[in-house]
This record gives sequence, structure tokens and C-alpha cells, in this order.
Amino acid sequence: MKFSATTCKQLTKVLIDWYHHHKRDLPWRHTRNPYHILVSEVMLQQTRVTTVIPYYEKFLSHFPTLESLASAPEQSLLRIWSGLGYYRRVRYLQAAARQIISKWNSQFPKEYHDLQTLPGFGEYTAAAVSSIAFGHKHAAVDGNVLRVLTRLVNEKGNVKKTAIRRKLNFAAQSLVSSVGPRSAGTWNQALMELGATVCTPQNPSCNLCPLKQWCSSVKAGTQCIRPVKVRPHKKEKMVTSVIVCTKNEQFLMRQRPEKSKIMPGFWELPEVEGQLLCETDLHEWGMKQLRRLSSFSHGITSRIYDVNVYIAASKGKPLRSFHWVPQGKLSTIPLTTITRKTLAILESISPEGR
Ligand code: ADE
Repeated sequence: MKFSATTCKQLTKVLIDWYHHHKRDLPWRHTRNPYHILVSEVMLQQTRVTTVIPYYEKFLSHFPTLESLASAPEQSLLRIWSGLGYYRRVRYLQAAARQIISKWNSQFPKEYHDLQTLPGFGEYTAAAVSSIAFGHKHAAVDGNVLRVLTRLVNEKGNVKKTAIRRKLNFAAQSLVSSVGPRSAGTWNQALMELGATVCTPQNPSCNLCPLKQWCSSVKAGTQCIRPVKVRPHKKEKMVTSVIVCTKNEQFLMRQRPEKSKIMPGFWELPEVEGQLLCETDLHEWGMKQLRRLSSFSHGITSRIYDVNVYIAASKGKPLRSFHWVPQGKLSTIPLTTITRKTLAILESISPEGR
């Protein structure tokens, strides 16, 4: 598991050279602005590079500085982030911006341990920002890097176990410690790049890998079974019903409570758990004449929803928690993903077909 000092030096030099020739041209690789790097790292935590690029550019054009992010209304933050998922990330991002302004006198902290005190910063984010923006030697071990390291040392244990993670983090830290001054960020990104483009989860391209001479999995022929798979939990199946109720080009909608675990503060069409079997509840909600229009499925991390879409007519006064939202305003407020998918279905069906 332990690499000698000479191996560390050679291996890191070879991978950094490879990175300079093969890296993808990504917008956050043209900056050392710690705030911009933070935005990219937070977005990239649970989302693919190709999805992140337009969101990164849009986010920074709306909020180019820490100050602009800190003073943004939550609704505009959520609207810009809408579709990227894991919305807690953007709330933490804003909380971190506010803390840097208030506690650090608007000077972005440089030290790993100081960064870790900011809201939403774990070991990974602190290491990524301190290495990429400030050149500090901390290993940023994300999923791609973990796979590369696991294969490099042919780790047979479960990488979700703390003891195994500790061993791999130790290997990662000994490698990053051997790079030249200010190259730690380049090294971390080189490992990420190798994981994303060569040392892929399926069918890794070992013949193209600059590290193959040091790779214990290649020697043992085990690269396709590393890291070992642990069976994932089955997703819970849920049924839900969404009701589209319109009046004079307005949609009946409600805002999710701030305390909600899923998408707090987002706007949604009326929704009830399960199949809608009778109209009785609808009368209280200010709706009538229910018709089933369509259905679609929607997966989140732990659940898969079978979503039934209904159309209803408006009747009398809706519940106090509901509001009539003009169609033209929909693009200016944060919408839940189920609502966005429902509205897209509605748009794809001609008014006569509804
Ligand atoms: N994933 C996480 N951070 C990344 C980065 N800086 N470049 C590419 N992919 C990444």
C-alpha cells in the first residue's frame, strides 16, 4: 500500500504530464478564483461534468462574486439551480458565502482546516478548494479518485468501510505530498480526469493508462472487479398523483414548506400520495371534474415515483395554501422536478388532446 518516495515522484510526474496533454477544456480549469472553484466543486459533487457546464456558467453570470451570492433572494438561487438536484448544496453555498463575508472579512480562507469550518464543507471540498485555488497539498478523494486508487493498489476491501477509506486516503495523501509547489490542484484534477476518462467504472482503457506500470490490479488482472461491488439497496416504489388545474392561463400551485426535507421552498402543482380514486377531496381544494391524462416515472436517490397526471377544472375558492400562478411567471420561480416534468407533458399535448 505504501509507495516509496521515488515511486511517488515518478508516478505523479507521469500523470501530471499526461494530464497536460489530455485534459478536457472545462470552464473552471481557466481560473484560480476560489469562489468560482468552490461553485464548480459543489456542482460536481453529485452531477456529471456535461450537465454542470451550462449551470456553472449561468450561476456565475447571475452571481459572479461572493457578495452577489450572499445577497441573492433564495427563490432566485433555487430557480438558477433548478434541475441540478440536491438543493441543499446551493443553500450551503450561500451560507458559506455569507460566513466568508461576515467572519473572514470577505477574504476567502486559504487553509484546509479553516475551509472545513464553512457550512457544507467536508474533507473533499476543503481539499479540492485549498489545492486547486491555493496549491496546498491535500488529497481530494472523490468517487473517480477512489476508484483509481483502489485499482492502483488492488484494494480488495469494501471502500465504504472506514478502515479501508483510511488506507486509501493515506495512499492519496502520500502521493499529493510528493508533487511540486503549487501543483497539488493539478495533481488532484489529473487523478479525477484519469478516473473520468480512462480508469472508468466499466471497461477501463488500461492500454491507454499512463499509470499501468504501477497498477497492481492490471498486474493481477482484477481491474474490472475493483472496487468490489456491494449490492445497492432497492429503491422504494411510490405512487403519487399530480393535478393540473388551470383558470385564465393561470395554474393552481402551492409552495413547499421551508421545513420540508425534499425541495423546501419550491413551487409545485397540487399532489396527493397514491392513486386519486374519488373527487371528494378535490372539492375542498377548489377543483372538480377530474380526468386522468397521463403518467410518468420519476426517480430520486432512494425512491422511484409512479406519477399519475390528472386534469381538473376549478370550482369556487381554493384552499388558502394554494395560489393562482400566471403561466408567464412559471419560468421565474423554482419548480419541483415532478412539476416541471408534468408541465412538459402538458405542453407536448395539444389543447384539444388534453
Ligand atoms: N469532479 C470534481 N471536481 C472536478 C474537477 N475539478 N474537474 C473535473 N471533474 C471534477
